[in-house]
Amino acid sequence: MISEAPAIPGELIARLRTAHRVAVLTGAGISAESGVPTFREAQTGLWARYNPEELATSEAFQRNPRLVWEWYAWRQERVRQAEPNPGHDALTAMERQIAKFTLITQNVDGLHRRAGSHQVLELHGNLFRAKCFTEDRTVEGWPESDDLPPRCPHCGGLLRPNVVWFGEMLPANTLRAAEQAAVNAEVFFSIGTSSLVYPAADLPIAGLRAGAMVVEINPQPTPLSPYVTFSLNGAAGVILPALVAQTWDVER
Ligand code: OAD
Repeated sequence: MISEAPAIPGELIARLRTAHRVAVLTGAGISAESGVPTFREAQTGLWARYNPEELATSEAFQRNPRLVWEWYAWRQERVRQAEPNPGHDALTAMERQIAKFTLITQNVDGLHRRAGSHQVLELHGNLFRAKCFTEDRTVEGWPESDDLPPRCPHCGGLLRPNVVWFGEMLPANTLRAAEQAAVNAEVFFSIGTSSLVYPAADLPIAGLRAGAMVVEINPQPTPLSPYVTFSLNGAAGVILPALVAQTWDVER
């Protein structure tokens, strides 16, 4: 992992200082430094032999609902043990500096809110919520049972995590708000995402087309890299605090 922040371009600092509208898209990479495994890098332990894309589908749930429920329970546990890192914290600091700041995340771990960010659009749902697989209704609580997954308190159907699986639509209002933020942004950040999963991967492109300065923060190149205004190669938890400190001269 790169531990020293690369120089932050002066042009980016100048643009941010006067910007009224900034949008940020994050992916699993921003939580990597909190110890939450990303999707396309190796998983550890019990689940190393499972491909997340094969577990995150409604077909997988229909085939083996208990396996899928337990995989999400394991992920919940990892996130409960994790803390937001300096990358998450820097984004909360950025939110305080920008009049219209929109944080769009593909992550289901809730770490942005735990760090104190307020304007968060969760494109792929949230690991800690559940809904009924049969009726697609969000549920707040359910009777405890050894038999997993638990049952819907309304219809007795199986409960599933309230996340977006492959082949499913994103929540329409959330996606619309994210698209609007992207086309209105003066600066758009794409942070810690492989830019492989759509429609999220379209958002920085929409921002670029609408005239935003697009900045990628990632230790690795992605399919988005050739198009961005600036590529900052390194860890979000190193680059973002440096960027915020150099731009606004604030204590975080
Ligand atoms: P990926 O696992 O595809 O990509 C993680 C990205 O984070 C990679 O490009 C890494 O290089 C980068 N990365 C790793 N460590 C980093 C660090 N410290 N700082 C910055 N970047 C770092 O995760 P996502 O792009 O989030 O969808 O994946 C997108 C979607 O695919 C997920 O939301 C999930 C997944 O399958 C669903 O479950 C629907």
